[in-house]
Amino acid sequence: MPPFEEYIQEIADIWESRRLSNAGPKHQLLEEKLREVLGTRGVTLFTNGHQALEAALSLFPPGGEVITTPFTFASTTLAIIRCGLIPRFCDIEPENYTLDPERIEDLIGPKTVAILPVHVYGHVCGHKAIRAVADRHGLRVIYDAAHAFGVTENGVSVGQQGDISMFSFHATKAFHTIEGGCLAFQDESLARRFEAWRNFGIYGCEISELVGPNAKMSEFQAAMGLCNLRHLDEQIALRKDAALCYQELLGGRQGIVLNVGQPGVTSNYAYYPVRFREDEWGESRDQVMERLAAHGIGARKYFYPLTSAFPIFDGTAVDETPIAAGVAEEILCLPMYAGLSRDEVTRICETILKR
Ligand SMILES: Cc1ncc(COP(=O)(O)O)c(C=O)c1O
Repeated sequence: MPPFEEYIQEIADIWESRRLSNAGPKHQLLEEKLREVLGTRGVTLFTNGHQALEAALSLFPPGGEVITTPFTFASTTLAIIRCGLIPRFCDIEPENYTLDPERIEDLIGPKTVAILPVHVYGHVCGHKAIRAVADRHGLRVIYDAAHAFGVTENGVSVGQQGDISMFSFHATKAFHTIEGGCLAFQDESLARRFEAWRNFGIYGCEISELVGPNAKMSEFQAAMGLCNLRHLDEQIALRKDAALCYQELLGGRQGIVLNVGQPGVTSNYAYYPVRFREDEWGESRDQVMERLAAHGIGARKYFYPLTSAFPIFDGTAVDETPIAAGVAEEILCLPMYAGLSRDEVTRICETILKR
């Protein structure tokens, strides 16, 4: 959280403006600042990332198919379904756990309308190869960049990849607005549609043909974003310290798989995912998690199960993505936040290593 006094100062003029919601001055300023940070012509704020994703997917007529990853949070897959679209699950790359561009083309059919990859844990997708496939087939690419705010590749924000990117500003993210999210895009003509969609389909005083929810961000959320944006670099630097400490203490051990970065990519250190390979480590991921829990350390099976294993599906799609299924069995996200101290990381690692 930002310093308490800073937030109080930021919200003080809301008492002057009496504007609490509906794209007030704080909201407008945050959109402007995010356009600068992300380097996109358009940024539209929403009350959360999930609603933002649904707004992007509302561009497609119901019944279309969307090629996506099952190794993600529920939101990605459920947004597709809630928009009346059909997810077609594609396997992931074994190193970064992102959608495997080599496998997309086999899943494209006459009903395919879009590709929805996820920059999972802030790992950058193979966007050039994905763009090439999309262009060959006239498809739109919408990134779920929920985890990737602050991530750049060769100095360029990931928000500039694809047609539209969705960022989550949930309280658990490297940058947050308590709850919140945005769509970033270069085609400015989309802004009007997204602004109408988040306001019941109403744009200004005009009623449109859109059937939208109420997905507007309040001035208090936007004020939190304005404060947190000032501290983004220091927050990421603190997370990086914790990540380097984990790497030093857990690296080079048989059966423990760490992600050590991608060339040209500046990470936001949003998560610290570790894979425990039972055959080499001698213990399953669940056993490690239980030992950590017994010591009061909260690690998360993020993501398990695959979204294709959710009860809304018949379960057969899980077998079509064997790499994703294997990673979901082994993955554990260790505690990660700005200010996680070296002593705490040491205690976590010692608990893992003392089998
Ligand atoms: C991959 C992914 N997509 C979408 C979302 C939804 O974002 P929000 O919680 O802001 O609605 C999340 C949330 O954590 C996420 O992890």
